[in-house]
Amino acid sequence: MTTWDLPAGSGEDWVAHYDRGRPGWPDEVASLPGLAPSAEVLDLAAGSGKLTVVLRKRFDAVIAIEPQPAFRAILREHIPGLDVRDGTAQGLPVGDATLDAVFVAQAFHWFANRDSLDEIARVLRPGGVLVLMWNLPRGPWVPSTLNAERILLDRAPALDDAVDPLDFSRAHATDWRRIVEDSIFGPIQERRLPNAQILDAEGLMAYYASMGWIAELPDQERIPLLNEARSRLTADRYRRDWETMLFWCGLQPQ
Ligand SMILES: C[S@@+](CC[C@H](N)C(=O)[O-])C[C@H]1O[C@@H](n2cnc3c(N)ncnc32)[C@H](O)[C@@H]1O
Repeated sequence: MTTWDLPAGSGEDWVAHYDRGRPGWPDEVASLPGLAPSAEVLDLAAGSGKLTVVLRKRFDAVIAIEPQPAFRAILREHIPGLDVRDGTAQGLPVGDATLDAVFVAQAFHWFANRDSLDEIARVLRPGGVLVLMWNLPRGPWVPSTLNAERILLDRAPALDDAVDPLDFSRAHATDWRRIVEDSIFGPIQERRLPNAQILDAEGLMAYYASMGWIAELPDQERIPLLNEARSRLTADRYRRDWETMLFWCGLQPQ
């Protein structure tokens, strides 16, 4: 059985595809001015732990908060001993003023609102930092995957002309910046970091299978579609250059 050849409608299958196929984060995202290894930090909306593993390399104390049980199970399996908690950005299971930084990777667009920012501010110590990041594509898969993608794109839902149905990163395009600038967090600083991803053909299929619209197709459509795309992938390895857009801002004195 191939990795994507599983019944649709199961969040656990989707999270496994997510974990295998989506890009991770460069180590530099954890090296921010003023955040020493002794800092106590939170990975909010931790997913399967792609950022958590990077934070654990740098910081002594890392908490991961994730609302989806299937992701929490992967977090516990991948990172034994990790402090994993069920919670949302609007209700963090963390005490007042107990953390030095809250990191949010590829997720802030889901809760870019005043309630979440107030809640994040509540758990930060004075001078604490909010760190946001998104991966954006900076080139196509190499070697070309167009032959495989054509079969997927033929089945893709009609989206805005500017939107690529096989590019998850469009989700960051909210007005999150204005919302943060209007909050009690200070000026936003930013850095761009190169972030290459290399996958074998099965991993690339997991990337495609992790697209929400593909995961939601009924089995009788999804499995043959993915098998047809897989038959068109002939290379052993595929590489893609992403760019990590890193943003951080401090909690302003009140
Ligand atoms: C695209 S995943 C990102 C996962 C991980 N941070 C990464 O870098 O791969 C988005 C995550 O946001 C989480 N999420 C969505 N809404 C949330 C909310 N209101 N509070 C906390 N997490 C949320 C989802 O459960 C999911 O794990």
